Amino acid sequence: MARYDLKALRSDLCKELANGFQKESVEMVNQLLSKYKSHPEDWEGMEIWSKDKYTRTLLDKGNGHYNLMILFWNATQKSPIHNHLNSHCFMKTLKGEVFEELYKNPDMTSCERSCGCKMEKIKDSIYSLNDVALITDAEGLHRVGNKSQTEGAVTLHLYSPPFASCRTYDDDTGKSTEVKMEIDKDFSQQCCASSCCGE
Ligand code: SIN
Repeated sequence: MARYDLKALRSDLCKELANGFQKESVEMVNQLLSKYKSHPEDWEGMEIWSKDKYTRTLLDKGNGHYNLMILFWNATQKSPIHNHLNSHCFMKTLKGEVFEELYKNPDMTSCERSCGCKMEKIKDSIYSLNDVALITDAEGLHRVGNKSQTEGAVTLHLYSPPFASCRTYDDDTGKSTEVKMEIDKDFSQQCCASSCCGE
């Protein structure tokens, strides 16, 4: 039987989310991401490793309903603490082990009175190969990173609805800044017809 590869996953996600993200989509996206088992061959030629930052490659634009991205993290690289602008953020580990720190949304009214407040961590999680996680703003803000001190990690992310910017939060003051979501490489136009899910 043919392997359920990344191309098949992309095609299924495109079909299932054709009318946008519905209530039942949480379970369905979770199931599809879990059904897919990571295989390095699937992202061959898409890898971008930078010594300065983790990189973000866009795979699909999901007809405007979602963005499917693959992220490459060198050893110890991590994101800033950030929000997701009311989007669902699914993450699947394709290589290595990643950590997630969950933070409380800071109450800026009291924070500003005391000239800033340290971000309050509420949960630590570790995700191993093929694990799937979901974060929304309702649960809090998060930081994701590569747990390894020596090896690279790879993760697959589905954001629905897609968003072009988010807010990042300073660890020590809780002060937030709007930042554009960078795309280092866009493969969304290069997919073959059976798996392509462009705008
Ligand atoms: C990112 O998208 O740049 C960070 C990881 C995430 O929140 O999914």
